[in-house]
Amino acid sequence: MKFQYSALLALAASAYAAPPTQSIKEFPRQASAGCSSAVTLDPSSNPFAKYTLHPNIYYRKEVQAAVAAITDSSLAASAAKVADVGTFLWIDTIANIAKIEPALADVPCTNILGLVIYDLPGRDCAAKASNGELKVGDIDKYKSQYIDPIVTLIKAHPNTAFALVIEPDSLPNLVTNSDKDACKQSATGYEDGVAYALKSLNLPNVLMYIDAGHGGWLGWDANLKPGAQELAKVYKAAGSPKQVRGFSTNTAGWNSWDQSPGEFSTASDAKYNKCQNEKIYVDTFAPLLKSAGMPNHAIVDTGRNAVTGLRKEWGDWCNVNGAGFGVRPTSSTGDDLADAFVWIKPGGESDGTSDSSANRYDSFCGKDDAFKPSPEAGTWNQAYFEMLLKNAKPSF
Ligand code: BGC
Repeated sequence: MKFQYSALLALAASAYAAPPTQSIKEFPRQASAGCSSAVTLDPSSNPFAKYTLHPNIYYRKEVQAAVAAITDSSLAASAAKVADVGTFLWIDTIANIAKIEPALADVPCTNILGLVIYDLPGRDCAAKASNGELKVGDIDKYKSQYIDPIVTLIKAHPNTAFALVIEPDSLPNLVTNSDKDACKQSATGYEDGVAYALKSLNLPNVLMYIDAGHGGWLGWDANLKPGAQELAKVYKAAGSPKQVRGFSTNTAGWNSWDQSPGEFSTASDAKYNKCQNEKIYVDTFAPLLKSAGMPNHAIVDTGRNAVTGLRKEWGDWCNVNGAGFGVRPTSSTGDDLADAFVWIKPGGESDGTSDSSANRYDSFCGKDDAFKPSPEAGTWNQAYFEMLLKNAKPSF
């Protein structure tokens, strides 16, 4: 992924220490997965109060491989605990739809499987690191080869609960980056695609959160209202699907939940942004969404936000150096508008390559505050994972 922000748009889990040599299969979470009858998620209540975000097998596998590569035994023991943290699984290509079935096979009835819907035509229009497989104009392919098969799979598994984050960065990019050619060209496809996703995935065992960037993006005074209106417009174009619960914030981001004064509160442009932490952003954006006619409960990514003061600029988004794993998924947020802190970005997977000769090289991944070397977006970075672990708060 990634986003750019325009300042002025104007401009742990149970401590099982998995021996690294054992495979995922040797750690069945429950003999029989799923519930014994169909799951119905009530969109008027917080699903995370009832269900725990599932530690999916793909992240577990990545973490277990990482554990095997660590020689320091005490660090390895801490690392093993990360496998038990619930994370979202990114369905970032048509081919990766094949991950859904294996991922839901071990979901107990007490858990909810988190998926990120992320394959819009012309994806990541304001940056380069996460440009996707579908080109601008491939909207029919997005609908028939990406969304429809996901719908079929979810319908085939009515006894499993799903939480979906819908297309990170896409609508926020239309709000603040519409001056960029790529975003201009992508706009129709983003709106049409997100509306189709919301309409088609409106199933009883699913709740959806539409991505709303973060406080340093749509939180600027000039962006708040247009942001809420953009999300609500697409939600309404989808027919106001009842399984939409609200919005997601800080996806793959770095902002603190409630640091006060906020991390960038002394910046020269701070007077244009009251949303100096994610809590203020959620509490400010939610009422605007409500008046624009959209459900307004949030989930907030706390996967990598333990350490602040690392970014030179608020908009720096790529593999921030010195970051640490943040608060583990929980519905205890202390804020009625925030359903849960969740891990959306799987910590250890890169945000983008630092190789300046690569096609998808984005200069943000070469900045002074970005960790180097870093591989292609979505690819495992062992050194980065170990750094997140060492800097985790709370520690593992
Ligand atoms: C990448 C995706 C990846 C996701 C989670 C995004 O930045 O573009 O390919 O699945 O991060 O790591």
